[in-house]
Amino acid sequence: MAPVQREQLRIIHVGVGTRGKSHVRAALESGYWRPVALVDVVPDYLAAAREITGLPESACFTTVEAALDAVESEAVAIASPVTFHAQQIMAALQAGRHVLTEKCFTTSLHDAETCVAEAVRRDRKLVVVQNARLRPAMRTLRRLIQEETYGPLGLFLMSFFKPRGGPYNLSPHMHLWQQGVHELDTTLGVVQHPVRRVWGLSNNPTWCDWPSESTVQAILECDGGVSGTHLSTSNARGNGFEFRLECAEAALVAGDRGGETLRVLWGPKNRREETIPVDPYDTRGLEHHPVAQAILNGDGPGRGEGILIDMTIYRNLHEYVVEGKEPESSGRRNLDTIRLLDAIVRSTEERRAIELKGA
Ligand SMILES: NC(=O)c1ccc[n+]([C@@H]2O[C@H](COP(=O)([O-])OP(=O)(O)OC[C@H]3O[C@@H](n4cnc5c(N)ncnc54)[C@H](O)[C@@H]3O)[C@@H](O)[C@H]2O)c1
Repeated sequence: MAPVQREQLRIIHVGVGTRGKSHVRAALESGYWRPVALVDVVPDYLAAAREITGLPESACFTTVEAALDAVESEAVAIASPVTFHAQQIMAALQAGRHVLTEKCFTTSLHDAETCVAEAVRRDRKLVVVQNARLRPAMRTLRRLIQEETYGPLGLFLMSFFKPRGGPYNLSPHMHLWQQGVHELDTTLGVVQHPVRRVWGLSNNPTWCDWPSESTVQAILECDGGVSGTHLSTSNARGNGFEFRLECAEAALVAGDRGGETLRVLWGPKNRREETIPVDPYDTRGLEHHPVAQAILNGDGPGRGEGILIDMTIYRNLHEYVVEGKEPESSGRRNLDTIRLLDAIVRSTEERRAIELKGA
């Protein structure tokens, strides 16, 4: 990989095992960031992250506060279990750092709003990782809906079935806050009409023994006469995904988030079906990386889609900090997603529709 000609900023990684390992790699390989400290509670994860970064043992910590005290940095990246996010984001902001946090931003609307207010007060940038909405099939749907290529959108339906085989880290409504957030955020990213009313149900199917809810259903009523339905579960028997958008002239169907094509069903008169390719990957500013090079040479990302999308997030974070270019999933903008999740929880608890006023 050729060196990248730009100012690298310093970043502290919190949670460097499992998902956090991809963060360390993405920050490093993007060329935009230089990891300067590692935080985790598992020594083996710290040791593995030291191997990737070349950092000494003195750059390893077991709490975010200790790292913030000892090591200077421009930013902090948080990839710890969801229930720690709010406290770790606040600690980083209060230490004057910009923050990138994994989804789910927090596990309550109040906490997310508090973090956004703190970031504004301290003039720090706050970004949430919402990588599902960045996959090419979803970017293409977003563009086609925005451009009204098939006429205005009227209806949508998303279903997602994940046979995870076991629960997530313990949190309330674990599917909603830890997985459903991806699908609901993606839905908002594609539909692009603010949600005004929500009927929601977060529960467990009768045979499910998970310690908190594995499944979510919701009907969303949006501005402009647009409405749609969502059903997703992490305790499915088998895999499944479909996102269908009924526009005035045709229905658009994505049957696979990672798919290279979309189906277009024209009608109701002169019915016909066609298949269209999805838009290319976003490789801007990442051309030095072998995965981007493979795409630019027409070979596709292979198994590198994950790292490429993660690197675009680190590029966007850098641009936000240096140029002030606010990404789609800034903390402020991500509040729309968190408001929707909160409304689904409230609708479940109160057994009624919840009105959303928006920002
Ligand atoms: N965007 C995605 O594609 C994606 C995929 C998987 C997970 N995630 C998100 O990443 C985050 C982590 O998920 P995970 O499955 O990797 O969780 P995990 O339970 O594997 O923990 C992640 C890391 O955090 C460390 N950790 C635990 N407690 C900590 C603490 N108090 N301080 C610092 N580090 C601590 C763990 O040792 C581990 O290395 C969650 O927010 C999850 O929703 C995102």
